This record gives sequence, structure tokens and C-alpha cells, in this order.
Amino acid sequence: MQMNDLIVKKRDGGELTTEEIGWMIRGFVDGSVPDYQMSAMAMAIYFRGMNRRETLDLTLAMLHSGETIDLSGVSGVKADKHSTGGVGDKTSLVLVPMMAACGVKMAKMSGRGLGHTGGTIDKLESFSGFSTALTLEQFYENVEHVGMVIAGQTANLVPADKKLYALRDVTGTVPSIPLIASSIMSKKLAAGADVIVLDVKCGGGSFMKTEADARALADELVAIGKGAGKQTVAVITDMDEPLGLAVGNALEVREAIDALSGARPGELMELCDTLGACILTAAGVAESDEAARAMLERVVADGSARDMLAKFVAAQGGDPAPVYDPSLLPTAPVQIEVPAEQEGYVNHIDAGGVGMVSMHLGGGRATKESEIDLRVGVVLHKKVGDSIKVGESIAQIHAADEASAAKAAEALKACYTIAAEKPERAPFIKGIVR
Ligand code: URA
Repeated sequence: MQMNDLIVKKRDGGELTTEEIGWMIRGFVDGSVPDYQMSAMAMAIYFRGMNRRETLDLTLAMLHSGETIDLSGVSGVKADKHSTGGVGDKTSLVLVPMMAACGVKMAKMSGRGLGHTGGTIDKLESFSGFSTALTLEQFYENVEHVGMVIAGQTANLVPADKKLYALRDVTGTVPSIPLIASSIMSKKLAAGADVIVLDVKCGGGSFMKTEADARALADELVAIGKGAGKQTVAVITDMDEPLGLAVGNALEVREAIDALSGARPGELMELCDTLGACILTAAGVAESDEAARAMLERVVADGSARDMLAKFVAAQGGDPAPVYDPSLLPTAPVQIEVPAEQEGYVNHIDAGGVGMVSMHLGGGRATKESEIDLRVGVVLHKKVGDSIKVGESIAQIHAADEASAAKAAEALKACYTIAAEKPERAPFIKGIVR
């Protein structure tokens, strides 16, 4: 087989066979297919796309490029959750303990934040001593005995994706649905869960800017999961404004703890309930959506989901005390309010822009090597549809010093669009693909 022939075939709109895709990925990982040819192939796929069979074959070829997690020795149903990434997305911190408290074992591998989006691992490091660098034995042990684990991705999990993503990142080939879907699902399948629930974000703060693209990605992800024999559900959700109120690592942990303590703040809890009900019904733990939602309400009301978070933090070496006293979380020395300059209603909040404000305060990474400040970020007081008066605070900035706080306050004001009329709110949950 010649890589050049495969590139030409795809460039001209042809369909790659299972054997060709397998050969190409093996060659790319062992170095016999060079980066320049793989880049050309990624661009050909970007323009020509792939059909469902090709996308599944690509996913499976990537999945088998490295080690996989085998959860068959762990008792019960094992589930995993993935979000395509947004701003203020602390869902895993709330949902994963809720699921574990309902008796579904949660085995999750998460990443660090980059650019305007945050990462679950960074957020969890707000608990002093917490570690996500687990051996495989500890990973299995914690899923079995704690009921949940959130770890960093092991070095040899889907090496084909690591290499291909790095190439896509510098060749303008990230936004391709078959490439995104195979990248996400190869990692999810390698992590070994029986049930996979995907939160596909759409809007300004996410990868998929339009609902149509988000739906197309959700369809593709679910088709791959089913093709690989897994129970897979995707929920399409709005990311036109940040999720919840807090953006920034320790600030988001605090909001998650508040949610697990029964504060039930709006969309964050709506999302956790929806994703949770999908997992509980797919796992066969609840017979209906209503029964699932009742279970979710119960584990928050009786404190068992919050206790699960504390147990999980302690099992991974962290100090669980902030779970019961969030004032113990890292706190920024400077906190200032951002006063509104105009009266009216919040018409839009640029989620990506708010993510960038948090990043510039030090809460996110400009490059993979950047150090982050867990204490800093933004807490929004006003969300889309809320009325505001001149001088009223729209948000609070948490900063390391006065100068960065003042700069962030100006940048945050620019993220808000104010209108005279109250806007119509689009539904937050835009659809469920099963
Ligand atoms: N997330 C991934 O894991 N891969 C992509 O290609 C895009 C988002």
C-alpha cells in the first residue's frame, strides 16, 4: 500500500477501506507514514469528509494504537462522561459524585485546560494534595472501592490521537466532524466504560458554533459508540454564555460544592440532572427518566453525593475539608465588583471572552507549559435575561493583584451585550441523541 494513493483517493472523494485505514494509522504511529503525508490526509478528510463506516474504522484503528483500560474485573455498571469543552463547565465535579452515590461506578479520564476552556484536573487540584497521576492498579482499585475515579490520561492511551491531534492543531484541520468524533470516541472507548454520555456544547464558547454542527457531531459520536457496542447518549447543550456563575478553578469547585450541598443553581443542575438521568436509565439503574431524577434529587438532599466527593478527594490524596467548608479553598487576595454602565437586560454574554478574562487573570493556560493560578477568575452576578441598573454589579473579579483585576473588569464589561428589551431565552438543553 502507498500512502500517496490513499491521499489521492480521499482527495478525489473516494472511500477508504477498513484495511487502508488500519494500515495508515499503524504506519503513522510507527513513523513509516510521515507527518507531511498524514497532514495531507487530514486536509483531504477535512474537505471530503468520511462516511459512518470510515469514521468507525478510523476510531477503532486509533483505539487499538495503544493500551486500553479493561474494567471487566470491576463489579457493576461502569460509566463515563465527556464534555466537548466549554467555559465554566464544572459538570463533572457535580455529576460524577452524584452518579457514584446512585451506585453507578464512574471511571473518568480528564484533561487539563487550554486557552479559554478549563480542565477538570486543574480544578480538582484546588484540593491540596490531590493527585490524578494514578497507576492502573490504583485506578481499578478506586473505581471498585470508592465508586469513582478521575485520573489524567495514561501516557500510552491512544497514541495515534495524541500524534494526529498535534498535527491537526497546526494544519488547520481540527474542525472536521469525522476527525473530532474519532478523536473523542477513540479515547472514550479506550477508557473501558459500558455507558458513555457525551455533553456536546454548541455556541460561542465551544468548538461547534451552530446547533446544526453540534447535532451532526452528536449523531456521529453516538453512531460510533453504538458501532463499538457501547450504550452511548449525547446531550446537546447551549454554550452561548458560561455555564453557571463561576469561571476559574477554585471558584468553580466552590460552585460545584454548593450544587452538591443543595443550592441547585439553574442550568448547572439542569444539565447534571439530564446527563445523570441518561446514565441511570442507560445503565439500567433507573427504569424511567422520572425515577432517575428522583434518585438524583435524593442523593443531593441526603448529602450522600457530597460525601462521595469528599471520599473521592481523600482517596486520591487530597484534603477533603473544603467539601464541608469551601472557605478553605484557595482564595484570591483581590476581589472587586464590576459595575454596569448601562441600564437594560443582559442580551448576550460572550462565553469565549469570559474564558479569556479568566485565562489572562492567570486561571488558564495560554500554552501547554503555562502555570496556572487556582485562586483567580470571575463570578457572574448577571446572566442572559437578567435586568440591570447602572452601578449594579454584573460580576466579581478574583485576582492576584489590583492591576490585573482592573484590566479584567474592563475586559469583562466588553463581554456583556445589554439591550433595552428582555431577550427570548433559547432552550438550554437543545436535544438528546440516543
Ligand atoms: N476534543 C478532542 O478530544 N478531540 C478533538 O479533535 C476535538 C476536541
